[in-house]
Amino acid sequence: MLAELSLKLIAEVQCAAELLDTQSRICILTGAGISAESGIPTFRDKQTGLWQQYRAEDLATPTAFERDPKLVWSWYQWRRQLVHEKKPNPAHLALAEWQQAADKNKQNVTLVTQNVDDLHEQAGSRVTHLHGHLWRNRCHDCGTAFENETKAADSSKAALNFDDELINCQHCSGYIRPDIVWFGESLPEQAWQTAEDAAANCEVFISIGTSSLVYPAAGLAHLAKQNGAKLIEINPDPTPNTIVDITLAANAGVVMPLLMQQITALSSQAQDQL
Ligand code: OAD
Repeated sequence: MLAELSLKLIAEVQCAAELLDTQSRICILTGAGISAESGIPTFRDKQTGLWQQYRAEDLATPTAFERDPKLVWSWYQWRRQLVHEKKPNPAHLALAEWQQAADKNKQNVTLVTQNVDDLHEQAGSRVTHLHGHLWRNRCHDCGTAFENETKAADSSKAALNFDDELINCQHCSGYIRPDIVWFGESLPEQAWQTAEDAAANCEVFISIGTSSLVYPAAGLAHLAKQNGAKLIEINPDPTPNTIVDITLAANAGVVMPLLMQQITALSSQAQDQL
């Protein structure tokens, strides 16, 4: 794998590993790009991005759902079909491994995601979801959580239901919708608080696979910077984030395992010297 990477990238990953090895409070924000190598389309990538093919105004706003609930529900059921067999890729796995090692080394690695898939959880991470969960539902009117077989707890395929018929709430007969934050809606309070605290108190903030265009999530990097954190960005393409200290311009599935490898090497060197 190393042969495929430029010397510049390898040197930058080494630089990031050295920084991370000396710091104990890390906040990581992931976006759709981290799941791209698992086969889940991003939103804004040219040609393949969902928002290149569909209009967010028609599918991801409360007004869209009120205007045409069937269209919106069907679209999310289609997305569930698209995602349900996808598996974590090396980037998700490396992050989970890091969190587990960090617990032992007294390093604090807070993982926050804008993604609504559950690939971080499948990989074994603890993660805070800012934009909700693709596999959960709630009533659009009264907010009551709705449990159906959309994805059973045991994830068995037999239990999946991708029916695009609308479902009515048993309490108020409103329509059931995916438990996802749409444009114009507030982020879940507890999740936002966790993210804000982690960003404001971290020593290093890592942004992985996000275009950094959607606020308030994109503001977390600025909050971290204002409080003295160093910023690392992992993204093959440039973003409007101009406050980054170290840019690792390659796919997360390539960079993350390499970064973990280098962090592990540095910490075992330190152990040997004790
Ligand atoms: P975007 O689609 O806006 O951005 C994805 C980013 O991932 C882009 O900057 C890509 O260059 C980068 N990328 C693509 N492949 C990658 C890879 N293999 N490794 C690393 N990076 C890669 O997705 P988000 O920034 O997550 O909101 O979008 C933010 C929000 O906008 C989403 O949460 C969603 C959307 O509307 C909701 O669903 C509420």
